[in-house]
Amino acid sequence: MEVFRIHGGGPLEGVVEVSGAKNAALPIFAATLLTDQPCRIDNVPDLSDLRFMVEILESMGASVDQDEAGSWNVQANKLNPVAPYELVRKMRASICLMGPLVGRCKQAEISLPGGCVIGPRPIDLHLRGLRKMGCAIDIEGGYLRVDGKHLQGTRLFLGGRHGSTVTGTANMLMAAVLADGETIIDSAACEPEIVDLCQMLVKMGAQIDGIGSHELHIRGVDKLGGCTHSVLPDRIEAGTYIIGTAMLGGNVRIQGARDRHLNALLDKLDDAGVHAIIESSDVIHVRRNSEQLRPVDIITLPFPGFPTDLQAQMCGLMALTPGLSILTERVYPHRFMHVPELQRMGADISMEGASAIVKGVDHLSGAPVMASDLRASAALILAGIAARDETWVQRIYHLDRGYENFDAKLRGLGANVERLPGSELPNFLQVES
Ligand code: EPU
Repeated sequence: MEVFRIHGGGPLEGVVEVSGAKNAALPIFAATLLTDQPCRIDNVPDLSDLRFMVEILESMGASVDQDEAGSWNVQANKLNPVAPYELVRKMRASICLMGPLVGRCKQAEISLPGGCVIGPRPIDLHLRGLRKMGCAIDIEGGYLRVDGKHLQGTRLFLGGRHGSTVTGTANMLMAAVLADGETIIDSAACEPEIVDLCQMLVKMGAQIDGIGSHELHIRGVDKLGGCTHSVLPDRIEAGTYIIGTAMLGGNVRIQGARDRHLNALLDKLDDAGVHAIIESSDVIHVRRNSEQLRPVDIITLPFPGFPTDLQAQMCGLMALTPGLSILTERVYPHRFMHVPELQRMGADISMEGASAIVKGVDHLSGAPVMASDLRASAALILAGIAARDETWVQRIYHLDRGYENFDAKLRGLGANVERLPGSELPNFLQVES
């Protein structure tokens, strides 16, 4: 298993290009199953989660090929609507196949995804929505069996105790586009990734009104066709480089950073004293010299609120900001696995329920740390660059699920980050894996 060795030291300088968004590309690949016609998807990031998705689509009978870096052709002439445990267990997001299978095949058999380190991730809202649309659902042997022969448009409410559900909205949308009659999704998620999915579905012939709002109106059609679609840039990746520059100092142009998707972050960074210039609708320029940062309080919320997927990275920045900052999780109240690892690097953080109370320290020190999930990995790597001395980060396979070439992009900005085979770990760290 590969590991990262990081020698601390900033600043970051240069230009970095943001890749296509993982959380848009996954449901977009799933949406290709809604038609027997060819679909071409561009700007697809090279990530292990996308490779798992390709494996699952192929296992169901779709033909999938890549014709150049980032461009994929998918055609699902034949479709066996079964997503087996061996594949689904590798990636929770495979649950987004349920909507298209029910929409097109009027049935689906999909393994339940199982546990997740960022906390409980129920799918009750997905199931309630499908039942309201006339589906019969059984759970047997760890599999969900959905019988959608009476799939019918209806009014759905997708709000839960932590807000609306992103993948639940994607699933209901993809079932509704081929259902009889009209479906109204109330309290729909309005994340940019959902907007991107809606735009692709419209290209395929779907009839959707209210795109980008909390109320989607979908009139089912008999058939969808193929399309060409380019995945939107990854706002979380962009936000990670923005936070990294704020943390390490320097001067970085982030290409593919759309300010309209990042307002909650930019607003908080402005309060913290970080200078971000919106150069165009697609480029954000961040500069920080020796200015002292100010602490901020953050509450994660569904879009357009502050994204939970940037909370860990922000925690690292606040760990080095003088004063007391409070980061509260409202989306995944247990998503604080990065905290004990940041503490190992000298961060002063205490937990109070779903809030991290972060008291800024003068410096972090390099240490061996374990990545627990995707965003925690990015936070620890940035912390390692900001820290004194050497940091080893293990279990970086979490990182490779969602950040394309993170180490190479950071090296391009001047950071000293190496990807090494696990055998290079110093002896005293060789115990695990
Ligand atoms: N929830 C329920 N019931 C449901 C569905 C969700 O209670 O049926 C709760 C969840 O437990 C959570 C909240 O509602 O507390 C939001 O969950 P949501 O369904 O919106 O999350 P998701 O669709 O499973 C996506 C992203 C996550 C991102 C969240 C929130 C994908 C593949 N995943 O997850 O991304 O954190 O939305 O924005 O799109 C990541 O990229 O690191 C990541 C975890």
